[in-house]
Amino acid sequence: MLPFPVRNPRLLDEFTPYLVATPFNLPALDRAPFGVPVPPENIIDPLKLESEVFLRLLHRLDGLTFGPEGMPMPRWVFFDCSEMPGAIYGLARPAATLWPKARELFKVPHDYDGLVPVSMYVAIPMHRPGIWFGHNLSSLAPVFERAGVTDTDLRGLGSLTKGLALKCFGVQEFWGATQWLSKALFIHVKFGPLDLQTAFTPAHSEHETLTYGFRVTDAALRASMGDASVVLPRPPASFWLEGHDVPAMRALQDRIEAGERFVIPDVPRATPDGGVLVPITRV
Ligand SMILES: CC(C)(COP(=O)(O)OP(=O)(O)OC[C@H]1O[C@@H](n2cnc3c(N)ncnc32)[C@H](O)[C@@H]1OP(=O)(O)O)[C@@H](O)C(=O)NCCC(=O)NCCS
Repeated sequence: MLPFPVRNPRLLDEFTPYLVATPFNLPALDRAPFGVPVPPENIIDPLKLESEVFLRLLHRLDGLTFGPEGMPMPRWVFFDCSEMPGAIYGLARPAATLWPKARELFKVPHDYDGLVPVSMYVAIPMHRPGIWFGHNLSSLAPVFERAGVTDTDLRGLGSLTKGLALKCFGVQEFWGATQWLSKALFIHVKFGPLDLQTAFTPAHSEHETLTYGFRVTDAALRASMGDASVVLPRPPASFWLEGHDVPAMRALQDRIEAGERFVIPDVPRATPDGGVLVPITRV
């Protein structure tokens, strides 16, 4: 149990934390972030044969969540850019207690009695200690929503997973990339104002990607998981960017490249047509 209130405390009763890390990276990680222990048997070594089925299920979780977004990860990218250099933290459930629909979605082998992941957060350490780049956030919540599964309440799963993962990895400064229209933006801003590094990113396969960063403090992590007693400073918006507005993204990118600094201070506003208005503050 966490020592502060979270959005959906039942998640930690329903699921157990797991951690994928090589023996090289494992000693640097916090195996009990905020006092929530990762049981030793839930620590997965990607260099061992015995990890094969769990890692296949993790890759399946990526396919189920990022597939519909058009960005599923090839298996070799998973190994080269996640399991080997970085770490993966998430929540899981023993196969024996999995809901039938989830068994079917994951294609869990009949004779498998290990863990099945329901969420994952992957990050990769950058050059300076304490600085990490976020690589993947997946939650089964939208998959269940699409499949009409109501067996359990997964509200808050993505936010809780990212918050605990950043604590587990010991991240002090975080960088990430996401799309203006991604639902994940609603999660990322929970950590506080996001410092914009790019607003339009042709280097990424999705040009309408923004690159953002924030300082990781316990207050930011607690706020992200739903501790309403933490109030982060959020400056008012200078203007709003519509999530489909490519000329506005390019114009903002030009201003960033010219040396101006901007943050996304707070949550976007959803628009009735399925778009978003994202607040931008010049700092
Ligand atoms: C993005 C993803 C991880 C979110 O997982 P999740 O378990 O639904 O996340 P959470 O429930 O913790 O948080 C979602 C938040 O977005 C908010 N949100 C989402 N869409 C919203 C909308 N249209 N309007 C307002 N709020 C919205 C939710 O209300 C919730 O915030 P709250 O807890 O304050 O209510 C999940 O949808 C996923 O795996 N997507 C596919 C992969 C992906 O895009 N990953 C992110 C890449 S950067």
